[in-house]
Amino acid sequence: MKKLNILTAVLLPAVAILPIIYAAAAPPAVQVSQPAGELRSRTLIDADWRFKIEPKIVLPSGMGMALITDWTVRESNTGEADIPAILATMSEPTGWTPAKTGEDISPKHRGRYLWYRANLNASVPKPGKDGEVAVSFPGPGPREASRLVIFINGHRLADRAADMKAEPTTASTTDQAIDANGLFAYQLVEAKGVPTTIEARLTQWWNANGPNDLLVVVRPNDYMVGPVIFSVGRPPESAAAFDDASWRNVNLPHDYVVEGTFNEKYANQWASLPTPRAWYRKRLVIPESQRGKRVSVEFDGIYRDSELWFNGHYLGNHPSGYTGFMLDLTPYVVFGKENTLAVRVDPRVQEGHWYEGGGIYRHAWLTVTEPLHVAHWGTFVTSTVANVTSASPSAEVTIRTRVANESRDDQACELVTSVIAPSGAEVAVVRSKATVKCGGEVEVTQLANLAGAKLWSCESPQMYRAITRVVRDGQPVDEYITPFGIRTIRFDVDRGFLLNERPVQMLGTCNHLDFAGVGVAMPDNLQAWRIAKLKEMGSNAWRCSHNPPSSEFLDACDRMGILVMDENRHLASDTSRKSTTRFGDLVAANFDELHSMLLRDRNHPSIVIWSLCNEEPHVPATIRNYKVLKQEALKFDTTRPFTGAIIASKGDSYESETDVIGLNYPNGERFDTIRKMFPGKPIFSSESGSARTDRGIYENDPSGDPVLNPEKIPPVHMSNYCRDNVAFWKPAAQRPWVGGYFYWTGFDYKGEPSPSHWPAIMSHFGIFDLCGFPKDSYYYYKARWNQQVPLVHVFPHWNWAGREGKQIRVVAVGNTAQVELLLNGKSLGTNSVEPEDWAEWRVPFAPGKLEARGITDGKVVVSDVVETTGEPVAIALRTDMPRLHANGQDIAVAEVSIVDAAGRVVPTASNEVTFTIEGPAEIAGVGNGDPASHEPDVASKRKAFNGHCACMVRAGNATGTVKLVASSPTLKPATLEIAIEK
Ligand code: GAL
Repeated sequence: MKKLNILTAVLLPAVAILPIIYAAAAPPAVQVSQPAGELRSRTLIDADWRFKIEPKIVLPSGMGMALITDWTVRESNTGEADIPAILATMSEPTGWTPAKTGEDISPKHRGRYLWYRANLNASVPKPGKDGEVAVSFPGPGPREASRLVIFINGHRLADRAADMKAEPTTASTTDQAIDANGLFAYQLVEAKGVPTTIEARLTQWWNANGPNDLLVVVRPNDYMVGPVIFSVGRPPESAAAFDDASWRNVNLPHDYVVEGTFNEKYANQWASLPTPRAWYRKRLVIPESQRGKRVSVEFDGIYRDSELWFNGHYLGNHPSGYTGFMLDLTPYVVFGKENTLAVRVDPRVQEGHWYEGGGIYRHAWLTVTEPLHVAHWGTFVTSTVANVTSASPSAEVTIRTRVANESRDDQACELVTSVIAPSGAEVAVVRSKATVKCGGEVEVTQLANLAGAKLWSCESPQMYRAITRVVRDGQPVDEYITPFGIRTIRFDVDRGFLLNERPVQMLGTCNHLDFAGVGVAMPDNLQAWRIAKLKEMGSNAWRCSHNPPSSEFLDACDRMGILVMDENRHLASDTSRKSTTRFGDLVAANFDELHSMLLRDRNHPSIVIWSLCNEEPHVPATIRNYKVLKQEALKFDTTRPFTGAIIASKGDSYESETDVIGLNYPNGERFDTIRKMFPGKPIFSSESGSARTDRGIYENDPSGDPVLNPEKIPPVHMSNYCRDNVAFWKPAAQRPWVGGYFYWTGFDYKGEPSPSHWPAIMSHFGIFDLCGFPKDSYYYYKARWNQQVPLVHVFPHWNWAGREGKQIRVVAVGNTAQVELLLNGKSLGTNSVEPEDWAEWRVPFAPGKLEARGITDGKVVVSDVVETTGEPVAIALRTDMPRLHANGQDIAVAEVSIVDAAGRVVPTASNEVTFTIEGPAEIAGVGNGDPASHEPDVASKRKAFNGHCACMVRAGNATGTVKLVASSPTLKPATLEIAIEK
């Protein structure tokens, strides 16, 4: 280990009171950037995992089991709303009558819910060390099986309503239950269909010394058809010695659900793909030299409900698929030898109402530190800025660091924090003494005053770093780097959002996390590419709907100057699909996710507002839960405002509890009403638009609004004539006090094809399609969000052979005062364009050239042309990611266009394109943006959809030139070169 002689030589003498705050020191003469790897190692362990999808499983083999045949039963009127009452009567012997599995007792209890209760102690073994206790209903379970709620020892385990459906899902309903005291509310999404297997783990709440009460609620007119299996044991795949030789090798990030085959029988809102459980195993050699250190594994996101074993020892369970976590491996490490980490992921029950994938889809690290070290997510850097609008603002930076001591003795140490400016120069060093008790943690607060601070802004996202060293006995033992930014943020009732005291309207999009070909396993460079696409359009903000994104995503936003609304999904009133949260303890259970989000993310300057929830029901329990969550959140961050997205706001939701009111889909009247009702509160539009359009589609829905004209709802494809962009952007644009607008969504995503359904398997809301091809919405927002650059864009395409003389609706979007339309050089009239609106014509079709000329102050300043094309003759290939890192992860999106002899994209072409690749890369997947395509994502061929498709090329680990060839039987092929670099 390299020693920091110069640094340690200038340590200040010990002082009596701890923690000690030192003023910023003058920049020392030494360059102190110490690579983190030398004092703590944080190694990516993304490569070489063994992987296997678990075959449809009822019970892991090797588990001891017993059939549950005898129950006692009690009826109730209202099912779950009776839970407190039922739990209170558990010890009463009366009111419970015997029943057998398979006995149809429903006629005796017509119209009533039935509570089945079994005492599991009597005839079954106790769970051994690391064993699992589970109860399974291997189908059909209760007869209707459309609802089943399971409790063990009073804890609510699961509501597997829509789990693993064997029959098509045709409808779903939402059912809300609120307890009488307003203590909690929960929302149950219920899908029709018959679950084939329901399984619940009881281990966490298992009482080894008994009694263990199993309670199962079934719906009225239902009964326990059986069998019900109770089991104790340990899945063999978790054992260190398990033979995984027949499994396949995968690298992270990995989503295996995207590899599946679309089928109508799987839930349509989750993209009609199967979501089986799966296993990952990873071998790790931890050298002998690391004995005595702390070894932990860190995951940024596993979708979902993961369980982890290390060398066969059960480490724990992490329910949420969207939060990171760290687990200590130290007690089980075999130093100098191979160790095995086994991870089971279970995406069978989803958290959201969109495609969420399945697998270890974010990075994983092995972290090794000395026993005395900075704690996980252990720093918080904040700043106050003086003279913020001056040329040379000054900042007081507060660095709070938690130091953990996992050694056997109390430890005295010195914390030395260097502040490194964006230029790379060290601008302050602060030193503090601390004593950390054995097994304890101490938070040390340090201050650094910076003159001439470089502020973080959208245009100039300047990043500082705090390099924190823990020094013991003159030797540095840990180093922890915290990137941070210095800026002020504020929402003003009249001026909207202010960054560094300058008004900046947040021009944002909401986004989910998946992309064509790779699902949710998006590498860092692809995430940054998506941000760049939206930024180029003029967007400066991103709402992480409805969960925190990956750390690297936020790093990219820091770097790229994007304003982020980071979001906690559940407000404790919507838990049914979340986790095995304990019943009656829902708020506490959700704190875990809140804590993870705040602790991991609070140093990112890009995050300017926290959202605590999305569209919770307007009931008193929600308001109470919002307050509780916010109260908790304030313990972690008081530097940012809190919001929560509110739908159909009438002022009766959690508006008053938020710092900034986030309105989803407000029209002008709603904006104004809420502003009047809450005169002191800033307002923004946390979600809006939802213009359902599919790239290149113009034919359905001539009225332009499928929502207002339900009879015109096309089953699959949505026309670009949808006027929802105008309808929702206009009222926001007209109100300067609206602090921001977040369009739903920047990119299409799989699942939630609302309002269409199978065969559609993905959403239609995107400004970009699932492959990143722009739709017409793109030009609408680009024109609005770059007013200084004249733009006009005309649609539809002009290939309407067979419709000669028939009226075609022509639209021009842009930002000029007038637009003149010409067909084959002949003017069809000049239309004035209302602010934020578009211009329209009805044009009898004649092939040729349709031109829109944008006119400002009487002058043509910009124009756009669509032309009738010839037949497809060739493929064109391009990418704006011509260079990738040889990291085995980066993806280049190779964009395919089917073109005519003149090189024009044929807007109706659907040729199938086959890809082959040479060089150090592989084809990760393909896509075309067609919401009704059931072609597989993980493949090397794809049909074009309205002239385009895409191939996702994944870099290997070697450098070199990659040649991608795209071919199709009747077309001239195309070749694209991509450089894979160090
Ligand atoms: C919103 C919701 C989003 C998405 C969207 C579709 O109400 O917050 O998650 O479902 O509707 O329009």
